[in-house]
Amino acid sequence: MSSNKRKILVTSALPYANGPIHLGHLLEYIQTDIWVRFQKMRGHETYYVCADDAHGTPIMLKAQQLGIAPEAMIEQVRQEHMADFADFNIEFDNYHSTHSDENRAFAEEIYRRLDANGHIKRRTISQLFDPEKEMFLPDRFVKGTCPKCKSEDQNGDNCDNCGATYSPTDLINPISVVSGATPVLKDSEHYFFDLPAFEQMLKDWTRSGSLQEEMANKLAEWFEQGLQQWDISRDAPYFGFEIPDAPGKFFYVWLDAPIGYMGSFKNLCDKQGINFDEFWEKDSEAELYHFIGKDIIYFHSLFWPAMLEGANYRQPTSVYAHGFVTVNGTKMSKSKGTFIKGRTYLDHLNPEYLRYYFAAKLTSRIDDLDLNLEDFAQRVNSDLVGKLVNIASRCASFVTKKFDGILIANPADQALADEVMHAGDSIAAHYENREFGRAMREIMALADKVNEYIAVKEPWQLIKDENKQQEVQEICSLGINLFRILMIYLKPVIPALAEKSAQFLNDELSWEGHKALLSNHKINKFKALLQRVEMDKINAMVEDSKENLAAQAQQPVTGPLADDPIADEISFDDFAKVDLRVAKIVTAEHVEKADKLLRIEVDLGGETRQIFAGIKSAYQPEDLIGKLTVVVANLAPRKMRFGMSEGMIIAAGPGGKDIFILNPDNGAEPGMRVM
Ligand code: MSP
Ligand code: ZN
Repeated sequence: MSSNKRKILVTSALPYANGPIHLGHLLEYIQTDIWVRFQKMRGHETYYVCADDAHGTPIMLKAQQLGIAPEAMIEQVRQEHMADFADFNIEFDNYHSTHSDENRAFAEEIYRRLDANGHIKRRTISQLFDPEKEMFLPDRFVKGTCPKCKSEDQNGDNCDNCGATYSPTDLINPISVVSGATPVLKDSEHYFFDLPAFEQMLKDWTRSGSLQEEMANKLAEWFEQGLQQWDISRDAPYFGFEIPDAPGKFFYVWLDAPIGYMGSFKNLCDKQGINFDEFWEKDSEAELYHFIGKDIIYFHSLFWPAMLEGANYRQPTSVYAHGFVTVNGTKMSKSKGTFIKGRTYLDHLNPEYLRYYFAAKLTSRIDDLDLNLEDFAQRVNSDLVGKLVNIASRCASFVTKKFDGILIANPADQALADEVMHAGDSIAAHYENREFGRAMREIMALADKVNEYIAVKEPWQLIKDENKQQEVQEICSLGINLFRILMIYLKPVIPALAEKSAQFLNDELSWEGHKALLSNHKINKFKALLQRVEMDKINAMVEDSKENLAAQAQQPVTGPLADDPIADEISFDDFAKVDLRVAKIVTAEHVEKADKLLRIEVDLGGETRQIFAGIKSAYQPEDLIGKLTVVVANLAPRKMRFGMSEGMIIAAGPGGKDIFILNPDNGAEPGMRVM
């Protein structure tokens, strides 16, 4: 192996630092981790780096909403992400942040090189601006009426109702999601990366690389539509890196995000003395792979290779995209409880189940992958517990109890042993080609054969015969040896189970180990390796996902709901206890020595009540007299300094001048119940 030892740098996309890792994300990190573990097992010098993607408007606003500095928020989220990944046995060599010194240095350097080479264009554009928040509004922060079908409350760039796409400036009655203000058009100079200049280079790269067929097709479509210059600047306020020599202008988050791959790797190189340039210089012989989801192909197969080229760095060897995770056949849904966070999964289930299930269904293509929860339980139980672990549990106790734990040579069935040992090359090829599903099928077909062999031999019968003891030892030694080889093949997928098996087998389970059987080798006592998946644990996880998300339902960034979230749910009976009545204000006057209160008398349709209301800051008494309003009529009377208050006038607003009493519509009469 050492003669053709490869240098390989692998990345997964950098998750945004404003939300938790969910099972959709995990498909990507598990896929990448399996591939990396495989390469490492095969002896290649492989590094797997990642980072949190920490910049951009959503992250800035989320931190504001939480009332903390963005730096504090992204660090907290990064810690959570790292804990989630570690608990799914995803083993990065480095997990950094795009908000790092290394990344700033590379972003500035690449920008300066692109600029020096004439690839940065500057021009003034007109964009929607929130005059209250004093910020330009990204498309997703503008809503309004669709210019095509006139349906209200549509997104800034596309309509959910009729599917039209448009520019946010085309919206009718646009409003800023951030403040509720009406945006205005404002000019500003923006910086653009001249993507069209790289068309030929990108076409060459597309042909030279080992790109997936679907990706190559997508690229061909994009070339046909024509490449556009890419807007890489954003105006302050923005959380990101300021552009050199351009005060108040920042790199758009997607500019420094892929550069974050370099930043994270540099951080690793500095810690471990690895030669950074060897991996990134123009004519590098190292391999560079980016694993990503299908939604971010444009960034990775057009902007990124072009930026690298324009700044005199190498190209990625390839970019591998995967599809999206659906659960039970549909998009992950918060209300159905199928939008499952990694942490919620871990509260109920073993991470190795999910690793195996994803592996069993992964191909090298960009198809979506359905996590069907019943199929998941069935598949894991049948393959991992019923087939794989079963081999060891059927054979182990005979060997440890009767034969002092010694595995002997002399395979009882050489043909079967050969078949399992020789499968290594084909399984390795499947891993290399990211055909994990094929690898799993091949491994499980072998497991079936081993189980069949044991079932036919019936060592549990033979053991009763004094003369067949050696035969039992041979059969069970073979069973355990083949279990060991299958576990070697599965080690990239289920590393924790492999680790437990390694202890029992007293063997390190290296890839090369698949070529031979252990003989005169002592194994350790067998302990249960894996529990069956229970459906009620899955159901509990789904229930938990529903609760988790109801509690933190989408909240606006600012405005009344952000300041004062909706209270806990009450029953109808609770509500019905509150007796609201239409009331006519008959008297309203100042109260001596009270700075907030007005004394009000209301007519409840025959009954007069005195109420002290804290609305002096917003109303003149004379403006109130004669008005209809709504009072809580059955509130326990309260003794105040100035007299009894026998009810409450309900009003909206935060206080001060902003207090608004309610007026029933025309026709309501004093005393009517409000329900
Ligand atoms: N921050 C960017 C990536 C920058 S890379 C230089 C981003 N972040 S993300 O958090 O939205 O997504 C991270 C990765 O997870 C992406 O590759 C994305 O495609 C993937 N997935 C997010 N949801 C997914 C599913 N439901 N299913 C499969 N992958 C999904 O994009
Ligand atoms: Zn529409």
